[in-house]
Amino acid sequence: MTAFSTRQVQAGFVPGAVQNSAVPPIYQTAAYEFASLADAADIFALRKPGNLYSRSASPTQLLLEERVAALEGGASAVGVASGQAAVAVTLLALVGAGGHIVSANQLYGGTVDLFQDTFADFGITVSFVDQDDADAWRAAVRPETRALFAESVANPVAQVLDIGLVADIAHDAGVPLVIDNTVGTPYLIRPGEHGADFVVHSATKFLSGHGTSLGGVVVDQGSFDFGAQPDRWPQFTAVYPRLGDVVLWERFGIGQAFAALVKTKYVHDLGPSLSPFNAWQILQGIETLDLRVARQSATALAVAEHLAKHPKVAAVHHPGLDGNPWHALAERYLPLGVPSVFSFDLNGAEDPDTQARVGKVIDALEVVRLVANIGDARSLVAHPASMTHSHLDAAQRAAAGISLNTIRLSAGLEDPADIIADLDRALAHA
Ligand SMILES: Cc1ncc(COP(=O)(O)O)c(C=O)c1O
Repeated sequence: MTAFSTRQVQAGFVPGAVQNSAVPPIYQTAAYEFASLADAADIFALRKPGNLYSRSASPTQLLLEERVAALEGGASAVGVASGQAAVAVTLLALVGAGGHIVSANQLYGGTVDLFQDTFADFGITVSFVDQDDADAWRAAVRPETRALFAESVANPVAQVLDIGLVADIAHDAGVPLVIDNTVGTPYLIRPGEHGADFVVHSATKFLSGHGTSLGGVVVDQGSFDFGAQPDRWPQFTAVYPRLGDVVLWERFGIGQAFAALVKTKYVHDLGPSLSPFNAWQILQGIETLDLRVARQSATALAVAEHLAKHPKVAAVHHPGLDGNPWHALAERYLPLGVPSVFSFDLNGAEDPDTQARVGKVIDALEVVRLVANIGDARSLVAHPASMTHSHLDAAQRAAAGISLNTIRLSAGLEDPADIIADLDRALAHA
């Protein structure tokens, strides 16, 4: 296998296949013309590979899937319209009505919304546990549990997951571990190497890298054997009626059956398809992933070290800092650096005036921008309690490590001295 940086720019692309283009083209077409009706029928029945309709996939998307799978060391991948869609279709395919998920408390707020609200409408229940509590993970597993879920490095407080530990608990329970590696990025951490079976990304963040395009990807590591307990996984091991007498596990096997189900059922029926243009933008971003992430991580650590000494800052939640509760896990799981998304708490009590006090600091920033995004080339802040995590109640926020004084920062590519000077200027308003 070639090195990470080589895979970043080359994996999956065959140059010259069409019009000698050296760089992947955008196939901006809604549909594809078939050579014959017999050909169309074979492609629709998945008897033969081929382009069909862009709700299913485009060649630009297929290349993105191959590239992200190559970066995560996975067997196959599915690209979708957003990270939110990637989490949703992955768990719908694994769990289904009547099923149960055990999830970490420490999650992006949109995932909490999906788990406790929309999934409840679909008859899927979720138990939330402290991600560091192995006994809580084990105790929450039920006979109808079909997946364990967590983020490799959590948004926004940057708790580092002991992936190997949770993977062992999942596998003892006979279910796969799904890891959201959006904040981690495959450059800094590949959850599959530590036992995760499925890895999801909001490609909107570091993979795209420039804040231009929404996208999501799920990678099947090819490690989970749905055939070992066939009664638990009828979606793979029983006849799949929409393809006649086909059993996905027999036709596609380990590493491919999951993608076949996600594409032919959930993306096909619900329609969260990735636009070819966005797939292309994300491919473009991936070509510089390692360079950006290394620089942003170094910048974030420098900013965190500065904030840790600042008299207006009560706490800095960056696992690269000595004394952070996840420092040892960061050293074990993140040898190339800690991700550039972290949080810090301003001094002060949590009271009805806190938001206004935090607003004085945030509104005074000039270089660092107030934006509900992360992984952009620009440095961004957010106030999780009133933005990304505003649907959580106080107990849920506390369990995720978020207070009313917490500000999330995603370090960009600006000069670190400008970011630090901007924060110092704004903190004078605290
Ligand atoms: C960790 C994580 N997962 C998933 C998502 C959802 O991704 P998207 O906004 O692309 O739908 C986000 C978005 O902020 C995120 O931070």
